This record gives sequence, C-alpha cells and structure tokens, in this order.
Amino acid sequence: MALFRRLRNWVVRPKKTRRNGVISYSGSKHKLAYTPEFKAWVKHNPGALDAFHFIRKNLHHLKPFVALKDKKTGTTIEPLCTGEYKGNNALHRLSVVTKDREFFCKIKLNGKALTESDANRKVEAQRQAKPIIRELNKRGLNVALAPTHIIYETKIKDGDHEQTVTFVVSDFYHAHDVESVVGKLYHGNNILPENYIKTPANDQLSERVKQIRNMMLDYGVFDVHAHNMFLNKKTGQIIIFDINSA
Ligand SMILES: Nc1ncnc2c1ncn2[C@@H]1O[C@H](COP(=O)(O)OP(=O)(O)O)[C@@H](O)[C@H]1O
Ligand SMILES: [Mg+2]
Repeated sequence: MALFRRLRNWVVRPKKTRRNGVISYSGSKHKLAYTPEFKAWVKHNPGALDAFHFIRKNLHHLKPFVALKDKKTGTTIEPLCTGEYKGNNALHRLSVVTKDREFFCKIKLNGKALTESDANRKVEAQRQAKPIIRELNKRGLNVALAPTHIIYETKIKDGDHEQTVTFVVSDFYHAHDVESVVGKLYHGNNILPENYIKTPANDQLSERVKQIRNMMLDYGVFDVHAHNMFLNKKTGQIIIFDINSA
C-alpha cells in the first residue's frame, strides 16, 4: 500500500484514529479518512490514489467536459456530474476513470483553516447513517447511501498563499440510471413552494424525502435534502449523497 503510506507520511506528526472501522489521519498539513472496503480495493488497484496527484497538478487546466489522461497510470479525469450543475459550475466535480472502476470526485477549494475533524466528518456521517437507512427501508422508504470511500485534504500553493484542497471520492452515478430529485420536484432546481411541480408521483416522492430527512436529522445527520438525492429510474430507490454529521 505504497501510496497510503506516502499519504500518511505527509501528515506531520499524524494523529491516527480508528472509529468503527473508519481510519483517519490528521496532521497540520494533510488529513485523510477512508473506509476499510476502499483500502481493500486499493490493494488490488495500487495506482488508483495517484489520481489525487494528477488532479492536483491539473486543477487549473480543467475545462468542462474535457477529459485529461494521466499517461503514467492511464487514469482519466473529466469535469462531469449528474444532475443540476452545468458547465463551469461543475468544474470541480469530476468523473475519475481508473483501470476498472469509475469514481465521482468532488474537489473543494477554500482558504479556511483545517479543523480537527474535517477529513473524517463525512465518512463518519456515513457510518451513522447506515442503521438509519436500514430502519427507513423497514418502513418501506426504499433508500440507499452513495458510499463515500475516501476523503483526502491537503494544501496547495496558489501564488503566494496556500489553499486547502479537499477530495471527496464516491462511486459515479450516471444520468441513464439516476435523475436528480430536486430537478424532478422543482422548476429550476429551486426549492421554493412556488417552484414545486405538483403531480401525484411528486407528492409521494416529496413525502418520502421529508420522512428520510426528518429521521436523519433526529439522529444528527445533516444535509439530507432534495439537492443531495438521486432517484434510481428503474427501482425508484432514493440515493443520498453529500451528507454530514455534526
Ligand atoms: N456520485 C455522483 N455521481 C455523479 N454525480 C454526482 C455524484 N454525487 C453528486 N453528483 C452531482 O454533483 C453535484 C454536487 O455534488 P455534491 O456532492 O452534492 O456537492 P455540493 O453540494 O457541495 O456541490 C450534485 O448536485 C449532483 O448533481
Ligand atoms: Mg450537495
């Protein structure tokens, strides 16, 4: 696991935490959190994490829908996402295609100081959400979670100052399989009562969204709303992504 080791070594005096299977490292410059399932996959795909370096190198050369290929590893990155974001708005939402798998990678750029728990909050939210999802399914709500595999946070030089860059990696969901729930429910993807597209199917869907959201909130899982949901076109399953814990 050379790259995991390399990523960890960059974490200056790293603090390692292991909570319910989620492994996280946290230092002054870099943070890392990942699930054991993803670690196992990387073991068989040792080049996969090099994608971070390729993305970082090309951050300022990204153009909507223009794929860039890493000659060394064969990995392709392309600004592309399913749903409401278009063109430049989607510049930091990438499809990452490795030898045998496609990922969705969200890049967040900001200047804010790293906090202790930034890197593992999302992976943690996912762990918290799992039993809630089971309970919701028992109640017939047909819901799943888009798995977050790894979060990696580091700093890049931008001229004279440093920027924090965070990579959040999950599976890629395609427009032929899923549609955006906010787009289905609201004109212009805008959650306002006057934009609601009233149909019997939408009434049922928004009732499900409400029930899922409320139960997640009760257990401290945030950001569960129509903007962060897909609907599987075939199965009608709601897929939640981009959730956070307190
Ligand atoms: N796994 C995915 N596969 C394809 N597209 C995605 C995936 N996850 C999110 N998207 C699309 O990218 C947009 C932004 O993703 P999200 O993780 O919600 O980031 P943010 O809300 O911070 O912009 C979503 O609204 C959705 O349309
Ligand atoms: Mg979101």
